[in-house]
Amino acid sequence: MCTQEGFQAQRSRLVGLLISGSLEGFENVLDWLLSWEVLSWEDYESLSLLGQPLSLLARRLLDTVWSKGAWGGEQLIAAIQEAQADGKTPELCGRWDPHSPHPARELQSHRPAIIRRLYGHVEGVLGLAREQGFISQYECDGIRLPIFTSSQRARRLLDLATVKANGLAAFLLQSALELPVPTALPFEAATCKKYMSKLRTTVAAQSRYLSTYDGAENLCLEDVYTENILEARTDVSAAGPPQESPAALGLEELFTTHDHLNDAADTVLVVGEAGSGKSTLLQRLHFLWAVGRDFQEFLFVFPFSCRQLQCLAKPLSLWTLLFEHCCWPDVGQQEVFRFLLDHPERVLLTFDGFDEFRFRFSDHERHCSPTDPTSVQNLLFNLLQGNLLKDARKVLTSRPEAVSALLRRYVRAELSLKGFSEDGIELYMRKHHREPGVADCLLRLLRATSTLHGLCHLPVFSWIVSKCHRELLQHGGGSLKTTTDMYLLILQHFLLHASPPDTASHGLGPSFLRGRLPTLLRLGCLALRGLGTCCYVFSAKQLQAAQVDPEDVSLGFLVPVKSQGVSGASAPLEFLHITFQCFFAAFYLVLSADMPPTSLRHLFDCRGPGSSPLARLLPMLCIQGSECKEGGLAALLQKAEPHNLQITAAFLAGLLSREHRGLLAECQASGKALLRRHACARWCLARSLRQHFHSIPSAVPGEAKSLHAMPRFLWLIQSLYEMQEERLAREAVRGLSVGHLKLTFCGVGPIECAALAFVLRHLRRPVALQLDHNSVGDIGVEQLLPCLGVCKALYLRDNNISDRGICKLIEHALPCEQLQKLALFNNKLTDDCAHSMAKLLACKRNFLALRLGNNRISAVGAAVLAEGLRSNSSLQFLGFWGNRVGDEGAQALAEALGSHQSLKWLSLVGNNIGSMGAQALALMLERNVVLEELCLEENHLQDEGVGSLAEGLKRNSSLKVLKLSNNCITYLGAEALLQALERNNTILEVWLRGNAFSPEEAEELSHRDTRLLL
Ligand SMILES: Nc1ncnc2c1ncn2[C@@H]1O[C@H](COP(=O)(O)OP(=O)(O)OP(=O)(O)O)[C@@H](O)[C@H]1O
Ligand SMILES: [Mg+2]
Repeated sequence: MCTQEGFQAQRSRLVGLLISGSLEGFENVLDWLLSWEVLSWEDYESLSLLGQPLSLLARRLLDTVWSKGAWGGEQLIAAIQEAQADGKTPELCGRWDPHSPHPARELQSHRPAIIRRLYGHVEGVLGLAREQGFISQYECDGIRLPIFTSSQRARRLLDLATVKANGLAAFLLQSALELPVPTALPFEAATCKKYMSKLRTTVAAQSRYLSTYDGAENLCLEDVYTENILEARTDVSAAGPPQESPAALGLEELFTTHDHLNDAADTVLVVGEAGSGKSTLLQRLHFLWAVGRDFQEFLFVFPFSCRQLQCLAKPLSLWTLLFEHCCWPDVGQQEVFRFLLDHPERVLLTFDGFDEFRFRFSDHERHCSPTDPTSVQNLLFNLLQGNLLKDARKVLTSRPEAVSALLRRYVRAELSLKGFSEDGIELYMRKHHREPGVADCLLRLLRATSTLHGLCHLPVFSWIVSKCHRELLQHGGGSLKTTTDMYLLILQHFLLHASPPDTASHGLGPSFLRGRLPTLLRLGCLALRGLGTCCYVFSAKQLQAAQVDPEDVSLGFLVPVKSQGVSGASAPLEFLHITFQCFFAAFYLVLSADMPPTSLRHLFDCRGPGSSPLARLLPMLCIQGSECKEGGLAALLQKAEPHNLQITAAFLAGLLSREHRGLLAECQASGKALLRRHACARWCLARSLRQHFHSIPSAVPGEAKSLHAMPRFLWLIQSLYEMQEERLAREAVRGLSVGHLKLTFCGVGPIECAALAFVLRHLRRPVALQLDHNSVGDIGVEQLLPCLGVCKALYLRDNNISDRGICKLIEHALPCEQLQKLALFNNKLTDDCAHSMAKLLACKRNFLALRLGNNRISAVGAAVLAEGLRSNSSLQFLGFWGNRVGDEGAQALAEALGSHQSLKWLSLVGNNIGSMGAQALALMLERNVVLEELCLEENHLQDEGVGSLAEGLKRNSSLKVLKLSNNCITYLGAEALLQALERNNTILEVWLRGNAFSPEEAEELSHRDTRLLL
């Protein structure tokens, strides 16, 4: 039995059910409701409007059904069940009367069964109906539109019969009866099965190996794949209680996360920095599907790389894209394509590397026809928007910089890929080095070299470390600090690898590098030109034009593109990774004899969006460079992807650092030119940062001047770090006088932490450093230690930090005079860090605020911390929101706080506290003379506990706000509070919402004392 209230209560669940499938599923529900006459024809028409979002239609359906009373609700639930079962039953019992005197009505009563019967034969029936004059050519074309699935075409035909009184209805009743009964589900058709199997084999073959530099050592993905941290991005602007930290998701949850930004959209977006593992993650997804281990809800998976797609210059259709550029059906192309269009929910398309697609996302040009050709970018954009193949899932990966607000409007869920955790790094090394002892030695080295360890958080660096493990174990990793260090290490590894054994034993001496210089410059020129034209895949012709010969290729930095079909000598090549392309481009800029040194200043001098620094640099390159003709290349570079240029600039700074200048000077005839380039880069960096600081608006009176950092700021800081010059860092921040430095949601990981600390430690005035919502982690915390001395507050909310990281932080914070506030909301802290916290409270005499909300601290930890509180006389804010201290923990804290001299604010929200805890807190209130706000929402307080608190209040004269919302307090408890309030003039507010009061009681209580907030 479904009451109207019950139906209304289920509303959101029903909307969820209606929109969880495809439009096809929704229309099927409408079929049933129409056949049972729950919906009138008019209702139906208003619910089957093309182009409306499914969620809107679903809500409109609920409103319509709701207006028909409880019966309507029951029928809707039954219709949803029928629709869900529909795909599974081979035949619906359809006994319609072909000679019915009311054929249109008969057609409507048996609508689901007739549509099912017509499915697969619409074309034939349409032809007959046309031949016999029941429908016009125009009507026929309208039904045949390629955007409709077969069932939708059948529906349109039936709809036409309802409004046409010319015998079409009777004709359809008769024709449908004569059609064969569908016995099997369509995808069991032999052609589809054959195609599915071919696609699986193709995708399995493509995804099984992680290719490496020489092509010889193909790592089996299965053996080396390591779990990468994947988090759902939630809508942070949404109002409501403090957000829980985004849960880490397994890859298998990619499509099941409920953190939807837009329910009606099909596209799942995976965002991550360069080298964070996006392509590898997709490869893993493809593999798991192809071998039948996961994602089996999809019958067809089509992998694409944006890098390769953008090379398709000719217009193409969806058909061409799927069949010619992914997998060709050897038989029954029409049938297979029809099936894909009819069952989009069983299809998955993946597009890797949207940042490498040179076209910016736009929704201007709508393209809905699956068979008509259009430009590749328009095809992709319309797929992502769902104008094409609506309800097929799409996964798009991209670096953050390429994701626009417009694109986000079409995204169902957004996930960020954060790189390896500390355990992940260990697992990775163990998977890559199974020979006895090697992984252990490597891990020991990493732990002893925290900057290197920090770098490994990004998978591409873990890969470099693993690749160069012999060199590292031989010489140690202490000198490796920057990204440039890592790339020079791998450069050395590759060059040695490609040399005769006797040369290799001498290591990467300058003369050795000099010998290879022509090769490196040729690769560099190719890389730079590629960046400028957003070209990451190079054809044999392009390689020839850049004079890159097979010997250059044999070094291993260029690898064959993994694509279908083309192989052998003519296969196009790409750089091992886009970051290598940037590295080589930087190498070229530093060492090419054609470069006027001062031109480098344009690289660090980005002004405004859209103006790419290299584009301004290139005219000079073109004039100077002998090969570059006129300004053509410069014009092309206007389109370069700015983030790649930033990576290039950071490498440039690294290569020009004092550390590496010696090595490079040996390669170049003119060491002087190198010095001048260095001076230019140095000057530019310092000036850019200063300009950046000056552009910060002045502080609002009474508040600290605050800098909300933009990605550009982080990039400049990182470039400074690559240069590794203390003096430069000091000069650069000399002008910075901000009180608050905000770097929230900036993708700050350990690498960025090292760079920040390197620069910020030279600040003259202390700063509050806000790094909330990043991936600092324990390793990042370690990197931050050098700048702790200039931090007056450190906000690390939601950063994956565990006890180990925090204990280390506190150990170093103890002597830091300036540091007064620590915010650690939403991390992974447990009782094991309580001793450190207690020490901080006991020893640091000027410490003001400790916020530990939403961690895993229990009564044991609270008791340890309470000991610290006893010796503390400075703390003003203590936050425990969402831990598990329980009654015992509350007791321990209350006892310690009875005589505390400074604490003004205590939050124990959501901590499982009941009567015993409340009793202890009441005793504390009797004695304490400083506490102003006590937050006890979302606990288990009942009248007994509240009675105790009321007693405490009678003897308290400091508390101003008592928050008791969302407990189990009844009228009785409120009475006790009212009595206490009669004797207490200090208290201003008692929050009581969400307790057990009837509306009348709440009304009455709020009249008795306006300080009760109900
Ligand atoms: N989960 C993983 N397990 C093992 N190795 C990985 C993993 N993810 C990445 N790697 C290693 O790191 C390298 C870089 O990763 P990948 O190419 O997937 O990064 P990306 O995010 O696609 O970078 P880009 O933005 O530049 O395209 C891979 O070649 C691989 O060696
Ligand atoms: Mg990639």
